[in-house]
Amino acid sequence: MRPIIAGLPASKIREVANAGLGRSDVLPFWFGESDEATPDVVSEAAIASLRAGETFYSHNLGLPELREALAMHLSDLHGAVAADRIAVTSSGVSALMIASQLLVDAGDEVVAVVPVWPNITAQPAILGAKVRRVSLRVQGGAWVLDMPTLLEAITPSTRALLINAPNNPTGWTLTREEQQTLLAHCRQTGTWIVADEVYDRIYFEPDQRAAPSFLDIADASDRLIVTHSFSKSFLMTGWRLGSLVLPTGCSPDVAKLIEFNTSCAPVFVQRAGLAAVHHADAFVPGLVQRLKTCRDTLIPRLSALPGVSVSTPRGGMYAFFRVEGQDDSLAFAKRLVEQVGLGLAPGVAFGDEAEGWLRWCFASRDPGRLVDGVGRLSRALGL
Ligand SMILES: Cc1ncc(COP(=O)(O)O)c(C=O)c1O
Repeated sequence: MRPIIAGLPASKIREVANAGLGRSDVLPFWFGESDEATPDVVSEAAIASLRAGETFYSHNLGLPELREALAMHLSDLHGAVAADRIAVTSSGVSALMIASQLLVDAGDEVVAVVPVWPNITAQPAILGAKVRRVSLRVQGGAWVLDMPTLLEAITPSTRALLINAPNNPTGWTLTREEQQTLLAHCRQTGTWIVADEVYDRIYFEPDQRAAPSFLDIADASDRLIVTHSFSKSFLMTGWRLGSLVLPTGCSPDVAKLIEFNTSCAPVFVQRAGLAAVHHADAFVPGLVQRLKTCRDTLIPRLSALPGVSVSTPRGGMYAFFRVEGQDDSLAFAKRLVEQVGLGLAPGVAFGDEAEGWLRWCFASRDPGRLVDGVGRLSRALGL
């Protein structure tokens, strides 16, 4: 086996979840998914597709009607995106892996903004790339971008910048000005930007349908790949469907890569995705409103606890916080499961930069569960 594979760390979130295995009294907020099931209209489309006998391969890049619908959806949100720039993938994580496979050779250097969902840094490492981590920094309890440090790290030898905003786990979101600065810099250094925008629609600022996107400001010829997922905004984590927006002309090469990865996403799953995109405007704003209620239930209660520091995320579905004196996040997360049945993700799962922090996924059908969870945390802290 390649040593890099043997050396890959096992998921520390799973390690905490395993500590609670078989216990029905645990309130689980450790994984990045809602406890709401997929909307019926989406599931019905998959069932109809199966009943119609759509059990065969599709084009590598996805059903033309899904690529077209995604292009229209993105054009509506961000300005013209042509359907031939879209590739449908079997999940957001597969979209990210394909982006790395497209760009990264063994020995290449990539820069990643961290802390971040660990798959984003593991994928180029699996391909043999050197991953340079540039950390967000904490300012007044919130995570912010240290732009001078990031710009200094991106040089003409940087093959790609990997950046996820709205960010999992910190809730940090890029501003338009930051995006403009990064795009201008990467144009100069010839660096690709791989922007993971899977939480783009989960954005809580008033009158905004989506978080700032690189698609708003880039040209179709820019070295930019944007990855999306159906998992979060359409409650479809178990379906495994995602997509890529590519520069003009890249799709035929990506089609080859998809052929060698999964060949295509299952057709009935793509039909479900098509229904999701068609009903997006009827469905997503309500989901975002429910998630905002969750956020506004959890954050004030957390920040009212003595010793807890937390900031209010503008996007995504995570509260990222720390508790004074609790510097070993894995040990603390395990203790919370064992003592009070509270399931959170340890910050260290997202990088050493986040040691001492905890991630709480607040996507819950019933905000009362969040109140219950804060009560459990408070008990564990002896408050
Ligand atoms: C930042 C980020 N990107 C991508 C994904 C992948 O989503 P999926 O593979 O479920 O489409 C996730 C899932 O948690 C995520 O948090």
